[in-house]
Amino acid sequence: MKGNCTVILAAGEGTRMKSQKPKVLAEVLFRPMIDWVIDSVKTCGLEDNNICVVTGFGKEYLEEHLPPGIVRVVQSERLGTGHAVMQAEEFISAHGNANVLILNGDAPLMDSDTITHALEYHKRADSAATVISANVQDPTGYGRIVRDKTGTFSGIVEERDATDEQKKISEVNSGAYWFNCQALLIALDKLATDKKYRLNSAKEYYLTDAVGILRSIGQRVTTFNSKTSDVVLGANDRVQLAQLNEIARQRILEKHMRNGVSIPFTDGVIIDPTVTVGADTEIHCGTVLRNGTVIGKGCNVGPYTNLFSCEIGDNCNVVSVYGEDAKVGAKTSVGPFARLRPGTVIGKDARVGNFVEVKNSAVGDGTKISHLSYVGDADVGENVNIGSGCATVNYTGKEKFRTTIGDGAFIGCDTSLVAPVTVGERAYTAAGSTITEDVPSDALALGRARQIIKKDWVKAKKPYKNK
Ligand code: UD1
Ligand code: CA
Repeated sequence: MKGNCTVILAAGEGTRMKSQKPKVLAEVLFRPMIDWVIDSVKTCGLEDNNICVVTGFGKEYLEEHLPPGIVRVVQSERLGTGHAVMQAEEFISAHGNANVLILNGDAPLMDSDTITHALEYHKRADSAATVISANVQDPTGYGRIVRDKTGTFSGIVEERDATDEQKKISEVNSGAYWFNCQALLIALDKLATDKKYRLNSAKEYYLTDAVGILRSIGQRVTTFNSKTSDVVLGANDRVQLAQLNEIARQRILEKHMRNGVSIPFTDGVIIDPTVTVGADTEIHCGTVLRNGTVIGKGCNVGPYTNLFSCEIGDNCNVVSVYGEDAKVGAKTSVGPFARLRPGTVIGKDARVGNFVEVKNSAVGDGTKISHLSYVGDADVGENVNIGSGCATVNYTGKEKFRTTIGDGAFIGCDTSLVAPVTVGERAYTAAGSTITEDVPSDALALGRARQIIKKDWVKAKKPYKNK
């Protein structure tokens, strides 16, 4: 791909999205469509300085979003796809006699394989332009590929300019093309100067006409028909966006299944492209895995688990868990109904049970926090047992303090650990204690009021109503 370049069209408003932001920032699997497109061209080997994005509507959002090395040009008026490419003339001409790939920023499923194969075909055919096309079930809204009786490509006609007969054609223009840079510049020049090219019903400069121009001046123009029709799919409104999400979601689930991950029922299972899952792991319905989450081998994840930037070791059980920026060691069980907040690191063979929240804490191997507890800003050792209803009292309303619990300690039910405080190794806290002072190793700490018994109090007081 060396020497070649790409121009990505992203100036459109996307009126039908009804958004303040440019259409190409609409997300497919939690990622702006433009990022999918940029990723595909990078996978082909193009570097940032050979990628040019045409911005326009809401350009400040895009400017902020794009990686700094990417070239940008501004199309200040939206006069069509051909006009958008004209804004990049300088960039294209700097690439001499190489080839330029034109892509629509709103077609996120165009993949690197199709792009690469189309280029090989384009070079082999020694073409001035190669249009990437595909046959789709519903061609509505796309430009149709028109062929003559011998099947030779004769041009692209837009939906709004097509005759009823042409509208029946199922082969459509993907909006992605390989052009020889010099040939494209010649065609753009003609497109800009010859008025007849703006007589279409949109009164726009169509890039599709650049292809026609090259044919009319005797240059070779070919089509590359992609076997998978998804690559052409674009999102012009939020309904189409949902359809793209569904296709992208299925693609990723299938990839994981082929890698040995079980997803017996795919309902509500959403895995973004940055996630890694080990073989023999089972993922159950309603599970959402995002932002570079890594799941080990042989785990059970879900139902209803949401993980963002988490690292889960091998053979873990993670059921109905909401986790962010957390690490969990091998063979640990988390949930059901547990929350792991940022900065949590749980060891191996540990357990974080139902209605437990852990935040910014290290929890050692073999430690059990089985029910209804809050562990925040704590360093908990190995083989600690934290009983039901315990809390680290980590916040004064102004400042946060840490709690330290030594290996093998036993925190009785309903203990409040008022930080900063340390419970030594193997120490016990009695149930219901409020621990405000450090507990030495091997000691028992009782921090609660002594029980009083008032004999026959009920008989004397008769506190019941109506008796
Ligand atoms: C375009 C093609 C059509 C093809 C379809 C594939 C033309 C005339 N038509 O139609 O043949 O089947 O893509 O999805 O090219 N844009 C600009 N500046 C503009 C207009 C558009 O940058 O002035 C950008 C948009 O942001 C978008 C891309 O170009 O990313 C395509 O524009 P859009 O209006 O969506 O074209 P389609 O009508 O889909
Ligand atoms: Ca479009």
